[in-house]
Amino acid sequence: MKHLISMADLSDEVIHELLDSAQDLKEKRARDKVTELLKNKSLAMIFEKPSTRTRVSFEVAMSDLGGHGLYLNYKDIQLDRGEPISDTAAVLSRYVHGIAGRVNSHDTIKQMAKYSTVPVINALSDMEHPCQILADLLTIQEYKNRTKNLKFAWVGDGNNVCNSAILGCAIVGMDIVVACPEGYEPNSYIVEQGKKIGGNVTITHDPAEAAENADILYTDVWISMGDEEEREKRLNDLGGYQINSNLVNLAKRDVIVMHCLPAHRGEEITEDVLNGSHSVIFDQAENRLHAQKALILKLMGQK
Ligand code: CP
Ligand code: NVA
Repeated sequence: MKHLISMADLSDEVIHELLDSAQDLKEKRARDKVTELLKNKSLAMIFEKPSTRTRVSFEVAMSDLGGHGLYLNYKDIQLDRGEPISDTAAVLSRYVHGIAGRVNSHDTIKQMAKYSTVPVINALSDMEHPCQILADLLTIQEYKNRTKNLKFAWVGDGNNVCNSAILGCAIVGMDIVVACPEGYEPNSYIVEQGKKIGGNVTITHDPAEAAENADILYTDVWISMGDEEEREKRLNDLGGYQINSNLVNLAKRDVIVMHCLPAHRGEEITEDVLNGSHSVIFDQAENRLHAQKALILKLMGQK
């Protein structure tokens, strides 16, 4: 594995290797044990969209490991004045040991990987968010002690995070049921890819079917970055796809409720569920740090 562009770049074996490494790094951090495994290494992080978790977790991951993360808002670099992505990736490769990109179009991150000679990480595109799902698998492993033989229910917009969840579940052997309104289905190529990997992937328009007996209930915003102009239509179309206490009651008693954040309370999830006893949202957010540390060590560390 050279880059992480899609969740499908990871095998079951590599995912579990990364989860073990992330757990180890998490324990070391809790004991204040300093590791300088990326000493003198730099990660350039290009952001075309806003971020709290991804930006901070990558920056802190780099500094915890003795390296340096450079935040590059695309507006502040020549990319915004028309310098091609190919030149940007080639030039950055001469300075840094890895490039993370949060991009509008999935094609941009693919171009970065094509022209970069150092590892490229997809830090969210319109198609996928693999770093999120890697961290979420760590959280699931922590709460359920396994990643196989679980029912993962996605309720809401079949968006970028959902696409990565489908692939992630397929790879680790977790069943996934996606409940979304018509027109909000996950990418059909991804669904096919998930099934080809051997995943048990179901798409339904019935949130109750997804939630019934679920081990994991997951949602994300109805209005992703870039969808703002469709706000009214989306609120209307997705109105029946909220994670609330009725839906939680259909799931297993020990269901965990997940959300990649940021959340819009009262839209895709209710306040009581978000702050309720089933919610593991802040563990998910924390685990971004540990999972990404494991990832950058694998991609940028000593071979
Ligand atoms: N979940 C996530 O990627 O959050 P940010 O947009 O804050 O990075
Ligand atoms: N689907 C959301 C995820 C944010 C982390 C978006 O793309 O805006």
